[in-house]
Amino acid sequence: MMTGKIAIIGAGPCGLSQLCAFARAREKGGALPEIVCFEKQSDWGGLWNYTWRTGTDEHGEPVHGSMYRFLWSNGPKECLEFADYTFQEHFGRAIPSFPPREVLFDYIAGRAEKSGARDMIRFGSAVRRVEWDDAAGKFRVASANVQTGAENAEVFDYVVVASGHFSTPNVPHFPGVEEFAGRVLHAHDFRNAEEFAGKRLLIIGSSYSAEDIALQCKKYGAQSVTVSHRTAPMGFKWPEGIEEVPLLSRLEGTRAHFKDGSSREIDAMILCTGYLHSFPFMEERLALQTRNRLCPPGLYKGVFLLENPKVMYLGMQDQYYTFNMFDAQAWYARDVMLGKIALPPRAEMDADAAKWLAREEKLGDPFEDIDFQTDYTRDLCEATDYPAIDLAMVSDMFKKWEHDKEESIVGYRNCSFKSPCDGAAAPVHHTPWLQAMDDSMDCFLRQPE
Ligand SMILES: Cc1cc2nc3c(=O)[nH]c(=O)nc-3n(C[C@H](O)[C@H](O)[C@H](O)COP(=O)(O)OP(=O)(O)OC[C@H]3O[C@@H](n4cnc5c(N)ncnc54)[C@H](O)[C@@H]3O)c2cc1C
Ligand SMILES: NC(=O)c1ccc[n+]([C@@H]2O[C@H](COP(=O)([O-])OP(=O)(O)OC[C@H]3O[C@@H](n4cnc5c(N)ncnc54)[C@H](OP(=O)(O)O)[C@@H]3O)[C@@H](O)[C@H]2O)c1
Repeated sequence: MMTGKIAIIGAGPCGLSQLCAFARAREKGGALPEIVCFEKQSDWGGLWNYTWRTGTDEHGEPVHGSMYRFLWSNGPKECLEFADYTFQEHFGRAIPSFPPREVLFDYIAGRAEKSGARDMIRFGSAVRRVEWDDAAGKFRVASANVQTGAENAEVFDYVVVASGHFSTPNVPHFPGVEEFAGRVLHAHDFRNAEEFAGKRLLIIGSSYSAEDIALQCKKYGAQSVTVSHRTAPMGFKWPEGIEEVPLLSRLEGTRAHFKDGSSREIDAMILCTGYLHSFPFMEERLALQTRNRLCPPGLYKGVFLLENPKVMYLGMQDQYYTFNMFDAQAWYARDVMLGKIALPPRAEMDADAAKWLAREEKLGDPFEDIDFQTDYTRDLCEATDYPAIDLAMVSDMFKKWEHDKEESIVGYRNCSFKSPCDGAAAPVHHTPWLQAMDDSMDCFLRQPE
């Protein structure tokens, strides 16, 4: 076994997957290297750790959180289930398939607590700079205590970047926005749909944030929602009051003009225009350069930076799979760091990465995307002792979920699925999603009368 010191940046789902992977190795009797997980917030869970704050936080740090009140899982929980810690184990019984945020936060935290991960995390500690020292063959990591400002410099053998990629908003400009009288915000700063009750809302974008924030705002009382797309409409059977139009070309006062020549009055605008992968703390040659895609270039196995494989990036893919894919990556990364898996020579890693990239570039529809990410996750799982998970079943559930959304965009969250880990069948939730206004864990877990 190799020895070395490991830095993990972030204690969101990915960072916690890495810590849990090491904890499992320790349970099997293995000795662990020294691990420091830097987390700039005061608690774990990453995006799932809800904050009401926007802009900068109480310490002047950029707010990481992009989740909002009343956010429910947008995919079946069975598709993200941890193979080593099932929902049944955490909640003691089967629960419905589409939980609200607080329930998933509780699930993530439950496994991390059980694994003893907290002891390895330095909360309130922001990584400011990671540099590779060629001569020493090690990393210099500079961090700061966000409360006191005290700075710290340490040396590490490996760096795992688990800082997420849905926190730095992509904010395009539209002519006339400077004079627009209403509120303009990015989805990153959206917190409470009730703010838009009675308003005529314009949403820019045609992906998950646009879809969910449009529905959310309608559910909580928006007068109308216009969704403006750049490439293609989402094309769902929207409830009355939501309509899709081509891209916004300009604003004139409170009038929005679109590329097809149509126009309408609006009161507020939310830019659901995605996020940038941003690693300002990484030395340039160590920083991953990619947009949001299934196969970020420059990584072997979607994890190891080809330019310096001692830098590992977790969860940087566009995501159908989430928590269990993060686990698959973390288990693999752990085994490389523990010397159980040897990385091949550079030319072999380049060739493997190129093979996956070439396949990704030919993907034609969501079903092919799902097959791609299933094969990717399976490839990683097969190399480690990550417990068995029926990935063919997960893939089928994702495809059914796509179909359910086409059938009913307001009803798909009422469907139920079976666990790919223990076969447990989810009960139907006591209240259909469209009528479920209370997103608390207490309400969600209440047994039907
Ligand atoms: C609005 C929204 C809704 C979503 N809903 C779902 C859903 O329903 N289901 C699903 O499966 N996925 C969902 N996701 C996807 C989400 O990306 C993953 O579920 C998951 O949170 C990713 O985990 P992560 O650890 O990679 O990143 P994050 O959750 O972003 O965590 C990263 C952590 O790194 C810390 N950090 C960042 N920079 C530093 C630094 N310099 N120093 C120290 N710490 C740092 C942050 O504080 C944070 O705690 C959603 C994403 C968004 C934006
Ligand atoms: N649980 C939930 O309900 C929930 C809710 C929200 C988000 N999420 C998660 O959050 C993550 C991020 O989703 P996202 O929708 O924010 O990002 P995304 O999937 O990366 O989509 C970005 C969108 O922005 C559009 N866009 C980018 N630049 C634009 C421009 N200049 N003008 C117009 N449109 C532009 C893109 O359009 P093109 O198609 O033209 O490129 C695309 O529709 C996903 O993992 C998702 O699952 C989950």
